[in-house]
Amino acid sequence: MDPGRTVKLTPSSTWLAPKLLRSPSNSSTFPPAVACSCPEPYRLGRRLRQISVAAARRVRCHRSMSEGSGVAQPPVGVGLEQLRGAAAGCRACELWQDTTQTVFGEGPETARIVFVGEQPGDQEDRRGEPFVGPAGRLLDRALADAGIDRRDSYVTNSVKHFSHTVKGKRRIHQTPRPEHLRACRPWLEAEFAVLQPEVVVALGATAAKSLISPSFRITRERGRLLPWTVPGAPAPSEDDDEDAPHQTWILATTHPSAILRTPDEARAAAYDALVADLGVVAGALP
Ligand code: URA
Repeated sequence: MDPGRTVKLTPSSTWLAPKLLRSPSNSSTFPPAVACSCPEPYRLGRRLRQISVAAARRVRCHRSMSEGSGVAQPPVGVGLEQLRGAAAGCRACELWQDTTQTVFGEGPETARIVFVGEQPGDQEDRRGEPFVGPAGRLLDRALADAGIDRRDSYVTNSVKHFSHTVKGKRRIHQTPRPEHLRACRPWLEAEFAVLQPEVVVALGATAAKSLISPSFRITRERGRLLPWTVPGAPAPSEDDDEDAPHQTWILATTHPSAILRTPDEARAAAYDALVADLGVVAGALP
């Protein structure tokens, strides 16, 4: 069964805010939680979590990053700035070698929505910020049209180095390979652990397949708010209520770059569909 169908939402439907919705009892059919380097915060209420984070800082529970280890090992129990600093030296896969820098996520720790793209592009690699190139400008416009303030959101990528090939003077985007997604995944999980988002938006197939299910199809299942367990958190139990920090929601939509690539005659409709999907998220967060 596709649990998304139970919460099929369109901009015009009447529906409940995520906080008010309960996960369906079959939420165990969602992708299993991935083994994580930082599950501790999820086991705790917000206040306890802060205490645990402070304690973790005191004991400096920080693992070293081994070069080419295959999987990133973020420090545990730290905030976004420390994660950003640690990610700057990530050598878990080979992508760092031909890039300018790690492009970590950006936005306030209080963000309620986390947008997850694929990987930084050429301009993002040069500037060290996610979604600042052509796709980022389109995303900004779509967010504004949907009534979402990017400054209140957190924007990040599934892979934090620019995967590309060089053709003459141009650097051509290359879809990251599964091993790149695997290597980088702990950074994303660490970002989720700090942010505890209310809604995650997967931008494009790479993010959607990696966060929801490899069989997820954007074309068929976009724009639906699906109950979701944050990766790295323990699987949901029957006793969890809707305020459990790891019980959250995800919506997948098309990647802004795909809209830029859409033929002229279909681009406006593709853009409107993106705005409609983002409107579902905006409407879910009163
Ligand atoms: N595309 C992405 O997926 N992420 C960026 O940061 C830029 C373009």
